[in-house]
Amino acid sequence: MKRIKIIGTGSFLPEKVLTNFDLEKMVDTTDEWIMKRSGIRERHIASENQATSDLGFEAAKQAIENAKIDKNTIDCIIFGTVTPDTLFPSTAIYVQKALGIPGIPVFDISAACSGFIYGLAIAQGFINSGAYKRILVMGGETLSKVTNWEDRSTCVLFGDGVGAAVVEESNDDSGIISIYLGADGNMENLLCQPAGGSRIPATEESVKNKLHTIHMDGNEVYKHAVNTMAQAATKALELAGISGNDVTHFIPHQANIRIMETTAKFVDIPREKVFVNIDRTANTSAGSIAIALDEMNRKGMLKKGDIILIDAFGAGFTWGSAVIRW
Ligand code: UT7
Repeated sequence: MKRIKIIGTGSFLPEKVLTNFDLEKMVDTTDEWIMKRSGIRERHIASENQATSDLGFEAAKQAIENAKIDKNTIDCIIFGTVTPDTLFPSTAIYVQKALGIPGIPVFDISAACSGFIYGLAIAQGFINSGAYKRILVMGGETLSKVTNWEDRSTCVLFGDGVGAAVVEESNDDSGIISIYLGADGNMENLLCQPAGGSRIPATEESVKNKLHTIHMDGNEVYKHAVNTMAQAATKALELAGISGNDVTHFIPHQANIRIMETTAKFVDIPREKVFVNIDRTANTSAGSIAIALDEMNRKGMLKKGDIILIDAFGAGFTWGSAVIRW
């Protein structure tokens, strides 16, 4: 099995920031409630004319620059998102167009918050098969576009942003040591955007009933997230033949600080090793881990040989975890 490694990262958060205090003026909530229950202080919100691929293009440019490669050497783009620019064509198509690299295969994957880790796994498979050598793996959203801004139980939780990573075959012992993925469709109704697809196409009524926005049973999702993220992380560590003690940095999906801390405890990773940016980004779904990785990379927090555990859980349910040697 060839090992693949990340050779460059990028991310982009839209300029506009919406704070908890701004939300206090929009719905019946408080900064204190949001901070205490989720760890979120503020989130970035795309402008009216910014679609997911626009954020993606900026993140992709940064990742290419960070990898110090010629964009023409990229031979595939994989984009994890549940807030595509259009239902078709894919968001990856718009990124490809903006980058000006036509001809290579590009596509989206719909795995919600696990989208970036699913993307890494697909890239690993492609590179191992010999099909492609250098792949741009992206993840991110403009969740603000599908948020019900009158529903306080969801509108305080999400944010916009995209992260990107260039991956290729590793020539040393760095790279992805293990990846574990899973899904369970039995609870698809606990977190979803009900309308806009073939089940409930857009009608006046579907719009009126806000079926084109995020619907979530927060309590139920919370319970599953805690258990599943703990199990997924355990499995990825096992597959890598290491324990929580060996981990230098833990990057859990940034959905709720309480879920992140509980998961870390379960796999014996001390709090100071858990990377947290949820206070500034909120939950960016497929963007979460890719954005965090880029932030750490840019801040010089990632040193050669560091062991990084990433771990995600999202709508579907889907989940995924991976161990990476930097
Ligand atoms: O990315 C995919 C994965 N997503 C997640 O992992 C999210 C999982 N869920 C969560 O993170 C948490 O369940 C929430 C942060 C969404 C909610 O926290 P909670 O501690 O589970 O609160 P709750 O839903 O049990 O609500 C407690 C109370 C309720 O009032 P009553 O019934 O006790 O009177 C809610 O109506 O808080 C109320 N509430 C709010 N109050 C102020 C709900 N939303 C708000 C709000 N501001 N924004």
